[in-house]
Amino acid sequence: VFHGQLNERVRPYLDLIDSLRLMGIDEDLALPAIAVIGDQSSGKSSVLEALSGVTLPRGSGIVTRCPLMLKLRKLLGGVQWKAIISYKDTSTEFSDPSLVEQYVVAAQNELAGDGVGICDELISLEIMSPEVCDLTLIDLPGIARVPVKGQPEDIGDQIKRLILSFIEKSETINLVVVPCNVDIATTEALKMAQEVDPDGKRTLAILTKPDLIDRGTEKNVLDIVHNRVIPLSKGYIVVKCRGQQQIQDKTPLAEATRMERDFFRQHKYFSCLLNEDKATTQCLATKLTQDLVDHIKKALPTLSEQILTLFNDKINNLSAGEVVNEENLFVILRSHFQKWSDELKCSQESFAKTMQDVEK
Ligand code: GDP
Ligand code: NA
Ligand code: MG
Repeated sequence: VFHGQLNERVRPYLDLIDSLRLMGIDEDLALPAIAVIGDQSSGKSSVLEALSGVTLPRGSGIVTRCPLMLKLRKLLGGVQWKAIISYKDTSTEFSDPSLVEQYVVAAQNELAGDGVGICDELISLEIMSPEVCDLTLIDLPGIARVPVKGQPEDIGDQIKRLILSFIEKSETINLVVVPCNVDIATTEALKMAQEVDPDGKRTLAILTKPDLIDRGTEKNVLDIVHNRVIPLSKGYIVVKCRGQQQIQDKTPLAEATRMERDFFRQHKYFSCLLNEDKATTQCLATKLTQDLVDHIKKALPTLSEQILTLFNDKINNLSAGEVVNEENLFVILRSHFQKWSDELKCSQESFAKTMQDVEK
């Protein structure tokens, strides 16, 4: 769905981050990611679904009960759709997109129990297909205000704590999903994002459900999108996802994407947003990918600093009698950095090449 030259240019950056994650480096170092946050039923799953082309568990109430890392990888050259779901020590590969929901639900039940509880263990879902764009997104439980039967009294605080643990990292891009038809100033998710990112430098807001706003409020929405209400450096994008009716009618995503474009084209007030690159899921995907790459570029020096800090910690925490020489230093640090540095060197070469290409 999301083609374009962007992919070839950003690939090395995204690959580097994934290699680091795969090697478990993110246990020591905070790596860039995009976290999706919002109130329950704000449209988080719909947005993720539109970006990934994959039907995720959805519905009213709390559906996402564990953080889900959705890694989208564009594979070219006649490759079929393929997915790998991993959590704890389990890792399962499958090739039927219609099984995603079932696998994610099973994983959640195993990690968070069959009920309505939440859990902070991560489920990783890697999707490889020629039809997706290169993005890594983390879906988080929606913010709930009132506990439902079977949920602890403090479920709201539990969810906020979990969300905070992801969005407070300076390396995370925070994607705040807010419906067009609610008062954005009272949106808890946006407040949380603003608390951890006062300048809005790593906060991108997505306005959903533009088809459901009350007549006469279009100009208010335009004011928000044009950064005149709550200014965010990364700004706002309006998307129209599948509504409940379209889901019941089983409207294919590709068809929904066409309908989304038509909706904006024909809209009396919102059609201008197409030219301004502030509308459609496709525009969101392109912007996200570029944001992620910019973010990774900025984060690389910080990564080096963090490595140095780790290095110093190791030296300062040698056991009594242990001396520092080249040999034991190497042994101490090897487990942390050996594989990583090999990987980095190789990625840096592809970085350099990519940058040359971009500059050309
Ligand atoms: P989540 O709880 O934040 O993951 O929200 P969902 O993605 O499950 O969406 C909640 C409901 O809003 C679903 O019934 C969606 O079909 C509907 N929805 C999401 N986005 C839109 C939109 O742009 N327009 C319309 N009409 N409905 C939407
Ligand atoms: Na929901
Ligand atoms: Mg959801």
